[in-house]
Amino acid sequence: MTKDYKRITTNVLQEMKDNNEKISMLTSYDFTLAKIVDRAGIDVILVGDSASNVMAGHETTLPITLDHMIYHASSVVKAASRALVVVDLPFGSYQGDSKKALRSSIRIMKESGAHAVKLEGGDEIIDSVQRILTAGIPVMGHLGLTPQSIYKFGTYTVRAKQEAEAEKLIEDAKLLQNAGCFGIVLEKIPADLAKKVSNKLEIPIIGIGAGNGVDGQVLVLHDMLGMTHEFNPRFLRRYLNLYEDINRAVKNYVDDVKNQDFPNKNEEY
Ligand code: KIV
Repeated sequence: MTKDYKRITTNVLQEMKDNNEKISMLTSYDFTLAKIVDRAGIDVILVGDSASNVMAGHETTLPITLDHMIYHASSVVKAASRALVVVDLPFGSYQGDSKKALRSSIRIMKESGAHAVKLEGGDEIIDSVQRILTAGIPVMGHLGLTPQSIYKFGTYTVRAKQEAEAEKLIEDAKLLQNAGCFGIVLEKIPADLAKKVSNKLEIPIIGIGAGNGVDGQVLVLHDMLGMTHEFNPRFLRRYLNLYEDINRAVKNYVDDVKNQDFPNKNEEY
């Protein structure tokens, strides 16, 4: 059952979970794609720090700055008339200093007009989560594979396969819910564990590589559109093969220019 919501808020997401309606979420980093995504009826647009990889070509999410995130977020906010816009706090803007975390979040909300922020981690960053929430800023958690900690993990493989890590993840999820987070992203963990967290918690749990037992799904837009063709994790479903389509279009354009086929008489003044 899907209801026709005019504007998605954090309360609407809770209503969706309560009514067993799955939540759809995709990333966007720019005005043009965000407008298409929003008009297609997505519930949540995530201005992810994956922009560091996808837009800037960095190997990890660590180099992207708060200024970069605000630039991407303000472009997306202008395009979103229905979706809730959530923005990642980048690496270094919230860990270990809750006052800095609040300042970073206020900058995002004030300068981009976004609706919420997302932070990676559980008990290690709970002070930051709590302080941000005191300012009335909605917070989304992110557990499991947290890419800002890639140098601690060493690889991008599935997290929380061992009991101790799975138990910590469940405790962290409860901590985030009790602090007042409106939702949590679970990335690349076993489907059974993700389902358990979703059943235990009241708030919406959004999965990426976390199976079908959660309350919604998120993917990186450029991955599901098939633009990033060298990235092939098992959890990714491609809905287009835009790498091939764009490659073919550009090759055709190059040929047309070289052969003086473009522009023709109808394309000149
Ligand atoms: O930055 C991002 O795109 C994310 C998603 C993978 C959830 O955090």
